[in-house]
Amino acid sequence: MRPENERKLAVGLGLVLLGVATLCYTALSPAAPDEPVRLLFDGSAGDVLFTHQTHAQDYDLECASCHHNLEDGDEIYNCGECHDEGGDAEDYPTTDAMHAQCIGCHDEMGAGPAECAECHATPK
Ligand code: HEC
Ligand code: HEC
Ligand code: HEC
Ligand code: HEC
Repeated sequence: MRPENERKLAVGLGLVLLGVATLCYTALSPAAPDEPVRLLFDGSAGDVLFTHQTHAQDYDLECASCHHNLEDGDEIYNCGECHDEGGDAEDYPTTDAMHAQCIGCHDEMGAGPAECAECHATPK
């Protein structure tokens, strides 16, 4: 093969490999998650780590058992959009609503923490 043709072959091969690499990268990189894996709530009573994905997947809970507003177009809102000041459930503030929902379900299922210190890390 003449040096000129060898160079063309090398460049061509390089371009093919680049194409394959790009395809693999696009196909294999994970899609952005549409639900959080873990959430950390911080506050005066001590941080609370909530294992969101474990709750939804391993504990087999419906999204709507917590996101109880899901009928309008499947859009997920933060609890505070309705339960904090200015929302249509502002008479039932977020902290109370979350306590009622988290502890209420744990009681009902006889599983999951109900004591303050089992959810709240010792405040700094
Ligand atoms: C055990 C209760 C529970 C279950 C089950 C659950 N979630 Fe959540 N999710 C929450 C809580 C609590 C938050 C935090 C809301 C907040 O910060 O006001 C949250 C937050 C979210 C957020 C982030 C909202 C934002 O904008 O910050 C998304 C998205 C979401 N959940 C999707 C889902 C989907 C999809 C499912 C079902 C596969 C699901 N959740 C199941 C309790 C739950
Ligand atoms: C789109 C608005 C909206 C969102 C978002 C919302 N709520 Fe509510 N929630 C309401 C309304 C309205 C009520 C009933 C009125 C009242 O008691 O003030 C209610 C009532 C509740 C109740 C009382 C029992 C029940 O089911 O009726 C709990 C507990 C509760 N919400 C927890 C939560 C939690 C936790 C979140 C976030 C994961 C959340 N809510 C998100 C509007 C909302
Ligand atoms: C609809 C039911 C339900 C709701 C709502 C719920 N949980 Fe749970 N939770 C469970 C179950 C079931 C377990 C599993 C207990 C076991 O297997 O020992 C659990 C376990 C836990 C645990 C210990 C294990 C782990 O995964 O970390 C923590 C902490 C916890 N929940 C925090 C919360 C918090 C905080 C909220 C509210 C934001 C919440 N949960 C709302 C059902 C629920
Ligand atoms: C099942 C888990 C769980 C248990 C048990 C629990 N909490 Fe909480 N607590 C939470 C979560 C989640 C929040 C965050 C809600 C929010 O963002 O408003 C919170 C918020 C609070 C806040 C508001 C903090 C702030 O600065 O905004 C106080 C105060 C509090 N909890 C006190 C208590 C006390 C006292 C107990 C025991 C009697 C208790 N909690 C038991 C999960 C729990």
